Order: sequence, then structure tokens, then C-alpha cells
Amino acid sequence: MPEPIVRPGTVYLVGAGPGDPGLITVKGLQVLHRAQVVVYDRLVHPALLKEAPAAEHIFVGKQPGDPHVRQGEINALMIARARARLVVVRLKGGDPFVFGRGGEECEALLAAGVPFEVIPGVTAATAVPAAAGIPVTHRRHASAFAVITGHECPGRTDLDWEALARIPTLVVLMGLRTLPVVVGRLLEEGASPATPAAVVASGTLAEQRTVVGTLGTIAALVRQAGIGSPATLIVGDVVRLAERIGRAGPAQEVETVGAPT
Ligand SMILES: C[S@@+](CC[C@H](N)C(=O)[O-])C[C@H]1O[C@@H](n2cnc3c(N)ncnc32)[C@H](O)[C@@H]1O
Repeated sequence: MPEPIVRPGTVYLVGAGPGDPGLITVKGLQVLHRAQVVVYDRLVHPALLKEAPAAEHIFVGKQPGDPHVRQGEINALMIARARARLVVVRLKGGDPFVFGRGGEECEALLAAGVPFEVIPGVTAATAVPAAAGIPVTHRRHASAFAVITGHECPGRTDLDWEALARIPTLVVLMGLRTLPVVVGRLLEEGASPATPAAVVASGTLAEQRTVVGTLGTIAALVRQAGIGSPATLIVGDVVRLAERIGRAGPAQEVETVGAPT
């Protein structure tokens, strides 16, 4: 594999993948090995920090209950380290451009005249369902999928819930706390309560847990199972495949709660 050219004074926005540290890209890992500063989020696996042992490690993630570093401060510290001619890796969970504020950080770096490069990552939006045996598309079940955040709904969002209720596969990130609201919105817009639905927590990690049910049952099943974050909701017929594909794959020892429809 050719080594990438890594320049001092540059910020590399690197996707760390969905959880399992082995799911970072080769290029992301190569750049991480050359980092002098690593600015990282909460969902970044600790094993990845060990790949840059001599670098300065700066945690800027949001901890439940704790005040978190503001976006402006993150931008300022990346800019300051880059202006000091250091190799800065901004390590972000999943893919930097999928609900990761990567776009905002690029805009800040552009405005400051700091060079940067984006190294995409494997997003939880597809990898977490996959780890539970759920393909987000399938020729017989789903010819399209949508990815939304459950964080902003409802009310303050411009999401077209009527359209989302008709999407063959809907993937909801950051939707654990608002799960009953998201489910309620889809039902209000005509989705059937019998539509298969699953919540996968800590996907791709040893502690992965999957709860399978329907739109009508998923919120109660998740509550009963005591599922914690990070978790991803998947709604659609493809969830039916979790039992067969999930059991056959390497995730077969993963705990599955509930029954597919
Ligand atoms: C702020 S978003 C960032 C998404 C990230 N940029 C990506 O592309 O995967 C974080 C959300 O992704 C989902 N997520 C991330 N890692 C996950 C995991 N290992 N298992 C389940 N869901 C995960 C959860 O919904 C979590 O709240």
C-alpha cells in the first residue's frame, strides 16, 4: 500500500469507523501513525489512540451529563496546532461528513486558511445494520434507504415525515432518547405498526446488542432490554433478514433480544 504524503501544518479529518477499531481505513491509519496531535470524539475506540502513542491526545467529545467542548473551541485548537506546523488528525466516529460536523470544521479551516484533507470512514449508518445482519438495501426488499438524525425531531425539523414513512429502509442515528417520538411520527404518517424495526447498540463491538420487533413494539422492547447508547434504529422489511444473515455471520454470538416478525 503506498504511504500517503502527510504535510505539517495540515488538519486531516479522519473517519474512525463505527466502533471496531479494525474498521478504520488503511489511509486513515497511515495518517494517524504520522499524527503529532489527535483531536478525538467520544465514540472513537481507545485502541486507535494507541496507534499514535507519541502524539498529543485532545478529547473534545460530549460526555453524557458533562459540559462539552464547544465547536468554536475545537476549531480554534485545530487551527492553532496547524499554524504551529504540526500534523493534526481530527479523528471522528464513523464518517466525518455523516452527522459529524465535518463540513462545519472544513468551513472553519477554510476561513482560517489552514490546509486540510478529509479521509472518509465507514459510517455507522450502514455498518451497524450490517453488523446485525441487516443489509440496508436488498433487491427483493428495499431499493432505497434514508439516514436521519433523531436528535432534532420533532417540531424543530424540516424532515418530510410523510416521505420518510414510505422509504423502504429508514436508518435513524442519535434516536435512542427520542425513539417513541420517531416511531410515533412514522405511525402518524401511515407506516404500519407491523413494519419490522430493530435497534442495534454498540454495533461492531464485542458488547453489541440487537433488539428486533416492529414499529408497534420496538420502543417497549428497547426499554425492557435496557439498551444504552450508541444505538441505531433501522426500520423496514430488510430487518427480517437479521435473523438469518445475522446468525450466519461473525456476529453470531451477539445477543439478540425480541423476535423478528
Ligand atoms: C453523532 S452521530 C455520528 C455518526 C458518525 N459520523 C458516522 O458516520 O457513523 C452518532 C450516532 O451514530 C450512531 N452510532 C455510532 N456508533 C454506533 C455503534 N457502534 N453502534 C450503534 N450506533 C452507533 C448512534 O446513533 C450515535 O448516536
